[in-house]
Amino acid sequence: MKIAGISGSPRKNGSTESIIRHCLSFFQENGYATDLISLHETKISPCIHCDFCKEKPWCSQDEEANRVNTILADADAILVASPVYFGCMTGQLKCLLDKTRPLRRDGMKLKGKIGAAIATGGSRNGGQELTIQNIHAWMLVQGIIIVGDNNHFGGTVHTPFKDDPAGLGTVDGTLTAMHSLLSRISG
Ligand SMILES: Cc1cc2nc3c(=O)[nH]c(=O)nc-3n(C[C@H](O)[C@H](O)[C@H](O)COP(=O)(O)O)c2cc1C
Repeated sequence: MKIAGISGSPRKNGSTESIIRHCLSFFQENGYATDLISLHETKISPCIHCDFCKEKPWCSQDEEANRVNTILADADAILVASPVYFGCMTGQLKCLLDKTRPLRRDGMKLKGKIGAAIATGGSRNGGQELTIQNIHAWMLVQGIIIVGDNNHFGGTVHTPFKDDPAGLGTVDGTLTAMHSLLSRISG
C-alpha cells in the first residue's frame, strides 16, 4: 500500500517537513511505499476558476498540480501537515488542495482513501485544531475517510517539536490510527 505525505510549509527542513519525514519513515518501516510532496520545492499557483477541469480531468494552468494529483490518486492514504498561519493552513497548502478539483470532477478519485492531518504552531494553542479542521473539510469534500490520533483530532505540535513530547505523542497516535485502519482494510 502507498502513503502520500504532504508538507504544507514553504521552509526546507522546517518542523512540518521534519515531522512528515518522520511519519513516512514509520510507514516505510511497516512495509508501505511512500511519496513526499514538500511545498518548499513544489510550487503550486492559485486556482483561477477557469473551469477547464469541468471539461477535462486535469489543470490547464499547472503541470506541477497535475503531477501531484497523479501521486494522490495513486495513494491508499494521504497525510497532510501544515504550519499554522493565523489560525489556518498555509496559503501554499490551500493552493495545492484547491488544485485537486480535477480529481473530484473525474469521478471522485480520492473517495474512500484514508486521510489524517497534522498541524505545527509556534504557540501551544495557536490554532492547530482549527488548521486540522480546515484540512478535514477538504478531506470530507473529497470523500476521504478521516482518522484522528485515537484520542482527539490528529497531530497537534508546538515547535520546537523536540521539546513537545505530548505533541509528538499525537503524531504517533495518528500514525498508529492510520496504520491499524489500513491493516484492517488490506487484511
Ligand atoms: C505568517 C505566519 C503566521 C503564523 N501564525 C501562527 C499562528 O496563528 N499560530 C501559531 O501557533 N503559530 C503561527 N506561526 C508560527 C508557525 O506556525 C510555526 O513557526 C511553525 O512551526 C512553522 O512551521 P515550519 O517550520 O514547518 O515552517 C505563524 C508563522 C507565520 C510565518
